[in-house]
Order: sequence, then C-alpha cells, then structure tokens
Amino acid sequence: MESLDDAGVYKLSDDLAIIQTIDFFTPIVDDPYDFGQIAVANALSDVYAMGGKPLTAMNVACFPTKKLDISILKDILKGGIDKMIEAGVTLVGGHSIDDAELKYGLSVTGIVHPKRLVTNAGAKVGDKLILTKPLGTGIISTALKAGKTSKETIAKVTKYMASLSKKASELMQELGANACTDITGFGFLGHACQLAQNSHVGIKVSSGSVPVFAEVENFAKAGLYPGGLRRNREFYGKMVEFSKQVPDYIQDILFDPQTSGGLLISLAPEDAELLVSRLKKAGIPEAAIVGEVISKPMGKILVM
Ligand code: CO
Ligand code: CO
Ligand code: CO
Repeated sequence: MESLDDAGVYKLSDDLAIIQTIDFFTPIVDDPYDFGQIAVANALSDVYAMGGKPLTAMNVACFPTKKLDISILKDILKGGIDKMIEAGVTLVGGHSIDDAELKYGLSVTGIVHPKRLVTNAGAKVGDKLILTKPLGTGIISTALKAGKTSKETIAKVTKYMASLSKKASELMQELGANACTDITGFGFLGHACQLAQNSHVGIKVSSGSVPVFAEVENFAKAGLYPGGLRRNREFYGKMVEFSKQVPDYIQDILFDPQTSGGLLISLAPEDAELLVSRLKKAGIPEAAIVGEVISKPMGKILVM
C-alpha cells in the first residue's frame, strides 16, 4: 500500500497473493445500463493493472429511492453483472443504502502469483511506455453535462470506458512488463508521476503520440474542464516540465481525470512495438507508444 499502487496485495503463500480494491462513483453517462458496465470495468481495472486475475466482487450501491424509480437501479446492476460475466468474475454479495446521490461500484478480490505481481515501482531506464486507451473522458463528461457532445462521441467514449483491460493485462504479462498502472482520477501525468517516483526514474512523454478522443481538443480549448483537472494540475504540475511547443490545452488534457482509463505499461524497448501490434490485433486499436523511461531528472516528467 505504501507506493500508492492500484490495489492492496496480501501474500497468502509462496505462490499465491490476493489483490483487493474498491471503486464506486456517481454516474458519468445518462444510460443506467452503460453506467453499470463502466463502473465494473473501472473497478476491475486496478486488478488488471497489477497483473492479477479478478475472481469475486461485491456490489456497492447508494440509491435515492425517493427521487428515482427503482428500475434504474435494476438496469445499473444488470449492466454491472453482464460486465462481470464477460470478465469471468463471480458476484458474491454486496450492500446498498438509501442515499441522496446515486453511486455504484464494486469491491473486488483477485489473485496473482507473488513473483508475477506488476507494480508501479518496477520501471527500468530505457523502457518504452505504452498507453492502451485515449484520454479525455473527464473533459467529455463535463461537455456532456453542458449538452455539447455529439451522439457519436458519447457512444465511442462509453464503449472505451466500458471495455475491460483484461486482454491488455494478459498481453503485457506475456511480454514481461516491468511496471504498470491504470490511468484514473489523477490523469495521465498524475499516474505517470507516481510511476516515476515509485520506480526512481524519470519519464519523457511525446505529447503528439498520446491518443486523445475526438472533440476533446475543442472542448479543452473552450475551457470545459472537470474540477479534478485543475486539482491534478496544481498538485502534479511541479513534477512536470513542458517544452515550449506543448500548447496549454494539450497540457490540460494530459491532467484530465479519467474514468476507466487505459493501462500505462512500462516494457523493455525491444518488445514495445510487438506489444502494440498484439494489442491492436486484440481489438485495442488506439494503443500507442507514448514515451520512455529516462534516468534523470528522477521522479519527474518531461513533456515534449
Ligand atoms: Co489504479
Ligand atoms: Co482505484
Ligand atoms: Co452481514
């Protein structure tokens, strides 16, 4: 737990450790079924980021019974269970309460071989960094609330947020990833900072290679930001150096808090292209090499 890693890990024996994590949040899309799918993909993501296999889960639900029809909760839970079935995860229980604001998510238990655990502390100088999903879900959900997004963008972002990082996790393990984390609330640069600091390395990012959802650049230019973006930029900004050619709105996108974002994988350079091509073949078309691990400045990110 000490290195702000994605989940808690507890060793049971020399060849078995359990991974535990919990995640729940308020709706970020209008459709209840989609929200259930996204919440589950998001909660399972921390187990996949650590190279683990999620086994069981428990629902966590807060529902305003006086404000909303109970059928909405049923649809959310249906979306959730369908996603758990896809992941091969068994729902073993849960807890729900009457609350002023709707929230849903999971507590998850997974397993991993202690020697095959992938943390955010193992990145090696020379590694390439691979990101598996485009950025911009926080900015898009802010634009959605303001009624500014197109149906196509909402559909595409929903599909990505609801997609499991299961296959990406399996593929990175096949090639022996040195480190991994998933991109969630602290944004791409926040999680990259944690990876750099825990691995005692620096990171160089080529901002032009980072995949971003369509429309996000326009929304960013128009100043449609979630509150978390400013907080991320304030907190992690001091650990990041931007070169002059990186425009301000791109800097913002790199701090955008993500829901069910992609994996950020640190892998030996000779295997990086191979991993990207395998990810693409497995239906992860926007996977890309976005940077590399450098020795200095330690714990910092240079963005070109
Ligand atoms: Co995480
Ligand atoms: Co989490
Ligand atoms: Co009880």
